[in-house]
Order: sequence, then structure tokens, then C-alpha cells
Amino acid sequence: MSKTFLLWSSLALAATGVTAQAEETNPVDGEVLVNKLNGVFGRHAAKRASGAKGFCAAGYLEPTAEAGQRFTSPLFQPGQHQASIRFSNGGGNPASDDRARSTRGIGVKMELPDDDTMDWAGSNVPMFVASTPEEFVEYLTVRAKDPVTGKKDKAAIDAYSKANPHTLKTGKYIKARPAPASVASTPYFMIHTFYLEGQDGKSHPVRWVFQPEGGYVGLTAEQEKTMPKDFLEAEFKGRVTSAPARWSIMVQFPKEGDPLNNANIAWPDDRETMKVGTLVANSYVTKGSANDCTGQVYDPLALPDGIEPSDDPMLEARSSSYAVSLTRRSE
Ligand code: HEM
Repeated sequence: MSKTFLLWSSLALAATGVTAQAEETNPVDGEVLVNKLNGVFGRHAAKRASGAKGFCAAGYLEPTAEAGQRFTSPLFQPGQHQASIRFSNGGGNPASDDRARSTRGIGVKMELPDDDTMDWAGSNVPMFVASTPEEFVEYLTVRAKDPVTGKKDKAAIDAYSKANPHTLKTGKYIKARPAPASVASTPYFMIHTFYLEGQDGKSHPVRWVFQPEGGYVGLTAEQEKTMPKDFLEAEFKGRVTSAPARWSIMVQFPKEGDPLNNANIAWPDDRETMKVGTLVANSYVTKGSANDCTGQVYDPLALPDGIEPSDDPMLEARSSSYAVSLTRRSE
């Protein structure tokens, strides 16, 4: 299946202005979502509408032999699949503070055997704030800054939160742990369900989780106050000169009743897991160099053969809004 086609279709539509019409009929298309993100974070020239602050790395994904025996996708064929990686801070503020207890993200774009490709874009939080794109629009609308005062309406946010307590789970999860001491020392969750085609001919629902090989390492209470605001990029650049960053790529399998299309609900930690590979980030990539990822997009629907998306409505919403954000970055 060509999700690249979807992306380029969206780009073509954006270029012809057709999305402006779509906005009237579909309240949650990519244009609307990016406008809503801009309403909260401002619009910053050439920057991503979310994940605005970040830097590039390179490495590879090496699947386990067990994964190839069990699943058909070229992702699991033996070898080291080259990966272009981008680490980011969540949200659209290009000057966000690396010490803050907020979201960290990872984008991975892989070249696979059989001329296939695959993207991942995940974060260090196992559940999303909203369960549908419509709900995410509401969530962002209530947090929009007043265009005159530049302030948020705290009373409206409190009232919305009280009426929608499930939207607070993400914030509680983030605040409960110190900010990661390194982009290499945190897990990343892809949170949506995907289906892996099995060698048994069946389709297996899974969620991806990247577990850092050294476990979670957060800033100490002292470091949360004293580290420089922009320490993450320099820390990674220094770290990979002596040792690569490595994550075990795990898939979680659901139990009967676990939601397959609601990213607001994390599957419990006790679910069966399987290691399907290792992600290795072994070099820092300088801006402007041949492998610079700044102009790339990490589309969660860019999937290889043998991997299908679930019907989680967030996936289409993400894919279309990433395409819009990509177009706007070059305007
Ligand atoms: C409907 C929900 C969501 C919307 C509308 C949304 C929107 C966006 C947009 C517009 C971008 C900028 C894309 C670009 O310019 O390339 C972005 C980046 C990103 N998003 Fe989302 N997002 C959503 C959900 C999520 C979720 C659930 C995750 C994590 C599991 C996530 C992780 C990321 C990451 C890591 C980036 C930065 C990727 C990069 O480095 O290029 N997003 N998002």
C-alpha cells in the first residue's frame, strides 16, 4: 500500500487550495488541526507545527531472527536497515525548555529491503490527550491564546478538564517523572494499534514500544534546575562519540477487550511482549549536511508491506496534518 501516495495527495490538495473547501465540510482535516496547533503555540516560520524543536541523528534498525520467523514485513528481513532519526520536544514552541517535564518525541524513517520504507513517530508518553481528532480539536481550542491579550483562558481550561478528566492522564504521567536526562534514556511509545501480517497467515494487532537498553534515566532534582535550557542536543552529540544509543524494539500484544482504536488508553504493562529488533542511533547529524532530517516528514501511515494501520481515526488525522505542516514549513 502506498501511504506516500496519501501524503503526496494531501500535499497536492494543499497546493491547489482544495483543502480550504474541505475545511468547511470536514472539521478535523489537516488544515484545521495545524491551525489549532498554531493557535496554542503560535506560527513559527519554517518550523514544524509540533515537534518544533529538535535535531537529527542517524543509525539503523536490526530485526531479531524471531521477528522474521513470525512476521512477513520487509521490516523484519535480516540486516541493518538504515534509519534517519529526529529527536524533538513536543509542541510547536521552537524554544522549549529541555529541563521541563513535557513530551519528548522520536521520528524514524527507514529504508527497507524490497525498496520499501517505513516511518515511526512516537513520544515518551504511552497515551495521547484525546481519543479522537474531534476531541483533540476541542482540547486545542480551549487552550488557544487570546489573539489580543496573548493569554490562555484558565477558567475555560479548568472547566473543560473537569468535564473531560481522561484528557488529564497524559499531563499526570509526564509530571510524575523527571524530564529525561538524554533523548537516549527514555522509552518511546507509538501508541496506536497496527496489524502485523503473520507467517501463519493471520493479522496480529500490536503496539510498538522502544525501551532504552540502559533503562529510564531522568534528571535529578538539582539538574532540573541547573542544566542549560538547551542541553539535549549537545548531550546526544557528546554521547554518541563514545557509544551509540540503543533501544529494544518491542511489540505489545493486547488481551481481549483492550482498545484497538483509542490512543488515549494505554494497554496495561503486564501484556505479553516480544522483542522484534534493536534501534541504534550511532551518529549526530549536522544541520545542512547530506543526511539532514530537517526537511523530512515522519508520517505514521508510511508503512511497508505486511504492516497495516488500525482504524484509529487519529492516524489519518495525523498523516494529513503532518502533510499540511510540511507544506507550510516551506512557505
Ligand atoms: C491528532 C493528533 C495529532 C496531531 C494533529 C499531530 C500533529 C503534528 C504535526 C502537525 C506535526 C508536525 C509535522 C511536520 O511538520 O513534519 C507533528 C509532529 C510530531 N508528532 Fe504529532 N500530532 C498528533 C498526534 C501525535 C501522537 C499521538 C504522537 C506520538 C505518539 C505524535 C508525535 C509526533 C512527533 C514525534 C512529531 C515530530 C516528528 C518530527 O520530528 O518530524 N503526534 N505532529
